[in-house]
Amino acid sequence: MRFGILTGGGDCPGLNAVLRAVVRRATVGYGDTIVGFRDGWQGVMDDVWEELTIDRCRGILPRGGTILGTSRVTPYQVDGGLEAAKATFDRHGLDGMIVVGGNGSLANAHDLVADGIPCVGVPKTIDNDIAATEMSFGFDTAVHIASSAIDRLHTTAEAHNRVLLAEVMGRDVGHIAIRAGIAGGATLTLIPEVPFDVEQVCEALRRRHAAGRWASVVVVAEGAQPQEGTWTMPEYEVDRFGHRRLGGIASALAPEIEARTGIETRVTVLGHVQRGGTPTAFDRVLSTRYGVAAADAAHDGAWDHMVALQCDRIVRVPLVDAIGRPKTVSEDMLEVARQFFA
Ligand code: F6P
Repeated sequence: MRFGILTGGGDCPGLNAVLRAVVRRATVGYGDTIVGFRDGWQGVMDDVWEELTIDRCRGILPRGGTILGTSRVTPYQVDGGLEAAKATFDRHGLDGMIVVGGNGSLANAHDLVADGIPCVGVPKTIDNDIAATEMSFGFDTAVHIASSAIDRLHTTAEAHNRVLLAEVMGRDVGHIAIRAGIAGGATLTLIPEVPFDVEQVCEALRRRHAAGRWASVVVVAEGAQPQEGTWTMPEYEVDRFGHRRLGGIASALAPEIEARTGIETRVTVLGHVQRGGTPTAFDRVLSTRYGVAAADAAHDGAWDHMVALQCDRIVRVPLVDAIGRPKTVSEDMLEVARQFFA
């Protein structure tokens, strides 16, 4: 059998490990062929491809990024895109596509199944916000990077008796922020799920600093929101795919905190550092398990499904269960965080 594969949306560590595992399982396990398309659906529409072989995948397990490249474009956003994608699919005599992507890519994969391109999904999101799976690869790496940064921010904050704001990724959900905040012993963590009141944030910081020479590290998810009417957020640009270009909330909050508390406040935006570099061992293993399971699912013709982690087992779930709503931070995790945050 012949399958296409692509990586779509923002990259995250572990994509190459998924590709390597798909190729290993498909070619050695089943004698199938894997055609890799360049830059997500763009490569399918333009028919830019290479065969992925064991040799091509040598040495890529620990490498961040994706050897295939990625993009956010979909066949539905381009005039004639669907027809072009179907033509490539037919030209290569493919039996199906393996789509390694986030919420948007998986929603498109579901629609494409109905439009004649059979797809299997692999959940990819640095934010860990895909429903129906407990964990996506790359997330553990991002939390590790963010918590190590928080450790470093503590010592410089203490040296200067400052408030340091650490802005982390988390568009609609605060999984990276809350875990990095707990792991790094943050003073406060602001996440999209729980709108904040800037005055309450300042009051907590005033109390803490009045009690002695205490520095504070506040973790801010890029998608954190103020309670309505309490503070005016910065306006975000929207890219050509309708994606709000987040980033900058911490820089906007810092002068507000400094003005209200009188405590010197500085900002560190971790940004794409969280998505770059080598995956942790946990993410390499998870990616490898997903890759093997995705090759199995494609070979079995389990279209319109996604591989998922549930209770430490890799299972298949209907794509429709994974799309439509992001997976938010659990009440359990929030309760643990509340015990430690000022
Ligand atoms: O959607 C994942 C994500 O990493 C978000 O957390 C972040 O807002 C966005 O992608 C950044 O996108 P880009 O790489 O296009 O700047």
